[in-house]
Amino acid sequence: MPDYELRIRRFDPESGEAAYWADYTAELPPERSVLDGILQVKDREDASIGIRCSCRAAICGSCGVRINGRSRLACNTKIGDAAAEAGDGEITVEPMGNMPVIKDLIVDMEAVHWKKVQRIVPWLVPAEEPPEGQEYIVPPEAMLDVTQAMACIHCGVCVSACLSMEVDPDFIGPAALAKAYRFVGDPRDGEHEARLADLAEDPHGIYDCTHCFACVEVCPKDVAPMDQIMRLRRRATEDFDIKDSNNGYGHEHGFVNLIEKYGTLFEAQLLPRSFGDGSLVKGQLRPSGAKQLTRELPTAMRGMRSGKVSPRKALMHPKLPDQKQVRRIFKEIESKGERLELNLYIVGDQGEEEEGVMAEGGLEA
Ligand code: SF4
Ligand code: SF4
Ligand code: FES
Repeated sequence: MPDYELRIRRFDPESGEAAYWADYTAELPPERSVLDGILQVKDREDASIGIRCSCRAAICGSCGVRINGRSRLACNTKIGDAAAEAGDGEITVEPMGNMPVIKDLIVDMEAVHWKKVQRIVPWLVPAEEPPEGQEYIVPPEAMLDVTQAMACIHCGVCVSACLSMEVDPDFIGPAALAKAYRFVGDPRDGEHEARLADLAEDPHGIYDCTHCFACVEVCPKDVAPMDQIMRLRRRATEDFDIKDSNNGYGHEHGFVNLIEKYGTLFEAQLLPRSFGDGSLVKGQLRPSGAKQLTRELPTAMRGMRSGKVSPRKALMHPKLPDQKQVRRIFKEIESKGERLELNLYIVGDQGEEEEGVMAEGGLEA
């Protein structure tokens, strides 16, 4: 049976010492998990290693760690694969990021993850009194849209990987926002607009995500938290027309309007458009928009000095040679009576071929 080198990050707050790396060896077949390796080391070499785990089957969500720098579940990562991807064969195991370390590989989920989940009102607020003495029956197809968000096991792996949260620890974050979509997409909930207005207006809410895809890449349950955040944004801007003071509405509309007009992004116009409703004029005429633009002037001046921005680039932007095609796509989409979204989580590639595409809200596209 092969030997695997495990380099584990150790930290005991009671010792008063700084965190350090310790090396161990586990003897296991390659298809066993990194968690099995850690538990073997704990059993044979050092019982004091702190790790949280329970199901060992990617269900309970308690064994989130960083293996070779990547956030994931230790029970869901084969030790042979982890050794192969580690350049020198030595598998590094550290506690998850963006959360305080309690001991060794155990982080304080309560202080960050669960606090953020509490923030989004993680329960259904019924639109009407549930029927007395009966089940509140919902057509199964009406729940398809939230199935992906419901798959979350609250392991915190996406929270650990979130780059926005590294910069802004107050960001509500991928897991909690995916949870928010679970209620915004639920037809029984009566607070859709209030929830969206709250999350759009919060400076650490839906517009604080930078689309880095890290949460999508690491999630062991394919919840794709960033996709849920984008759905929240679409609901806020398109369905409820929520104009927030974080310029999220203006930014989304500015982006779309520029692509429709030019085919590629005219960056010099994106900022002024974002400060309004997405159009060029309104952003600059709004007193708050004009104020924000003035505040950005030093950045524009720095751009000019470094040669990144020129008066020509700031004023002119070429259209794509075949811009008509882009407009045609816009017209085609706008002619649809309702917005259709692919729910690939439910359908998958094979289902798409065989049965047609299941769209948001359970509609066949
Ligand atoms: S896509 Fe957004 S929520 Fe996901 S990790 Fe990146 S910044 Fe965080
Ligand atoms: S969204 Fe995925 S990674 Fe994030 S907590 Fe839920 S299951 Fe874990
Ligand atoms: S031990 Fe339950 S998810 Fe890993």
